[in-house]
Amino acid sequence: EKGGHDYFMLKEIEEQPEALSNTLRGHFADGGVVLDEQRISEQDLRDINKVFVVACGTAYHSGLLAKYAIEHWCRIPVEVELASEFRYRDPVLGRDTLVVAISQSGETADTLEAVRHARTQHARVLAISNTNGSQIPRESDAVLYTHAGPEIGVAATKTFLAQIAANYLVGLALAQARGTKYTDELEHEFAELAAMPDAVRSVLETVPQVRELATRMCDAKAVLFLGRHVGYPVALEGALKLKELAYMHAEGFAAGELKHGPIALIEDGLPVVVQMPSLKGHSQLHAKLLSNIREIQARGARTIVIAEEGDEAVRPFADELIEIPAVPTLLQPLVSTVPLQVLAAEIARHRGYDVDKPRNLAKSVTVE
Ligand code: BG6
Repeated sequence: EKGGHDYFMLKEIEEQPEALSNTLRGHFADGGVVLDEQRISEQDLRDINKVFVVACGTAYHSGLLAKYAIEHWCRIPVEVELASEFRYRDPVLGRDTLVVAISQSGETADTLEAVRHARTQHARVLAISNTNGSQIPRESDAVLYTHAGPEIGVAATKTFLAQIAANYLVGLALAQARGTKYTDELEHEFAELAAMPDAVRSVLETVPQVRELATRMCDAKAVLFLGRHVGYPVALEGALKLKELAYMHAEGFAAGELKHGPIALIEDGLPVVVQMPSLKGHSQLHAKLLSNIREIQARGARTIVIAEEGDEAVRPFADELIEIPAVPTLLQPLVSTVPLQVLAAEIARHRGYDVDKPRNLAKSVTVE
């Protein structure tokens, strides 16, 4: 049942191309996004002028990525907030506010309570969930289901990639309602998304390399993750996976913040995983990351670099280089997260831990 793997999580990591294509299937037709349930009028959707994304854990990291896409495509301000913080700070909500609640299980108490609070303030709620008929979708005005299939591993993997795709579909739906994108542009964006299952399939070829790398990282005292723009949430997710599964101290930083503090942590032999931005889409950021790597390498860090195929400039600074296919900037997290999932799972396995059932964690937490 584990498909020949030692644990479910590796099987689920390898199922990610299908999780993505199943999530995209049926959600785009006749040049537009099709939600699964919509109890809100097109006019109300058009009037949305503020978006809050609320979620917990890995779903929250997918939400951080939603901000880049929605602001870019729809020109609406987006705030992303941990569900457990949201309702306790009296957020400014109203009829023209859309709250996007992301929850794999659809039952997470913190997210559910955030949804309930939003509704008392007359905000519209759109749920993204992997579980048909669960509580959060039931209490929402609109629903888009991810179709990642059941996930056994407590730490989310394929549902994370499916959530990213779903968030982007919601971004396209809003762009469509607001008229900030023409049909041909929507179709173009969707076609790029639809090409991602193949890109993820190709990044899975790095699994043997990452498994081998993991055998050499099990004894690290800590691991840092750096990224910028969409690479920043990926860095946070890479660090979360390592904490959850391998019980190692791990932290993700926005690479630009390095000089404002975290660089003090760099010491001889400390592994630092760096997410390189896309060369074409973000050449300026690419140059900045290069200089960050140079700085940490000069201070003794062991650099593990995730970069696009053909990124020659980074080679001299990479003690380990993991190559990913070049894809549009907003979509890079769909490929760059995969090696980080494998890294965390394999380090955990080498340390003798139960990868599918990490200590103290539950798949869905139904208490606040
Ligand atoms: C945590 C799980 O408790 O809940 C995480 O261990 C998950 O893996 C988080 O990301 C949020 O869960 P859900 O179901 O709301 O997406």
